[in-house]
Amino acid sequence: MISHDKQTGSIGVFDSGYGGLTILRQIRQYLPQYDYIYLGDNARAPYGPRSFEVIYNYTLQAVEALFERGCQLVILACNTASAKALRTIQERDLQKWNDGHRVLGVIRPTVEALGSITRSRHVGLLATPGTVDSHSYELELQKLYNDIRLTSVACPMWVALVEYGEFDSPGADYFIKKRIETVLRKDPAVDTLVLGCTHFPLLMEKITKYTPAGVRLVSQGEYVARSLVAYLERHEAMRTACTTGGTCQYLTTENADTFARTATIFLHKSIRKVEKIEL
Ligand code: DGL
Repeated sequence: MISHDKQTGSIGVFDSGYGGLTILRQIRQYLPQYDYIYLGDNARAPYGPRSFEVIYNYTLQAVEALFERGCQLVILACNTASAKALRTIQERDLQKWNDGHRVLGVIRPTVEALGSITRSRHVGLLATPGTVDSHSYELELQKLYNDIRLTSVACPMWVALVEYGEFDSPGADYFIKKRIETVLRKDPAVDTLVLGCTHFPLLMEKITKYTPAGVRLVSQGEYVARSLVAYLERHEAMRTACTTGGTCQYLTTENADTFARTATIFLHKSIRKVEKIEL
């Protein structure tokens, strides 16, 4: 067991890049009192097309970096990491740390919310190839609502559009329209489209443009934030292990200035202090 003196710390929020900022923003709206450390592995994003083994290793390195900085609780604000690494980390790697450390993902809270959202019980999933191939959404749905039929479509270009600042460009329209049309052609009864990648809310304007009226778009931030509120209410020890200075620190594995500039656009507020780290 790796023992650390610190038994309290910030809440860690991890994503392969900028996408997790959409989750962080919502979490901080619901739980502004806590301290946070956001880590974006921008140097190695996107994770979506990578193998299970690579995603697991990268995610574990990120989680350990956050634990080493005092975090007791880490949210994988990334569907790809939640799909491919969360279970193994929870079952195998957490034992190395003291009992207080926990890692949570974003897929379960999203699936939980779907039961009361879809009326037709036909749901479409837009996600990275990694998340689609993992069948994690289907597995969670089988456990909770086996009357919901899921049609999944991988959107390999979408994360790159965000990471490379092309989210607003005319070229983005082609890729976004194409994938939305594909899912609705595969199952015309879909009344709910899940944006199963935390990068996708950053493309919301164009996604909305190509989504027919009557089809509801589900982005995850609000559901993940509400689920965290409930989790902390249920787990007093974790609640007291999370420090409450209301601060947020930003870490990236790429250039700190680039991160600060781009994150400012996504968070609608300026980020001053960003630290570049190696994983
Ligand atoms: N934000 C990540 C997700 O939710 C993007 C993964 C990637 O880097 O491809 O899946």
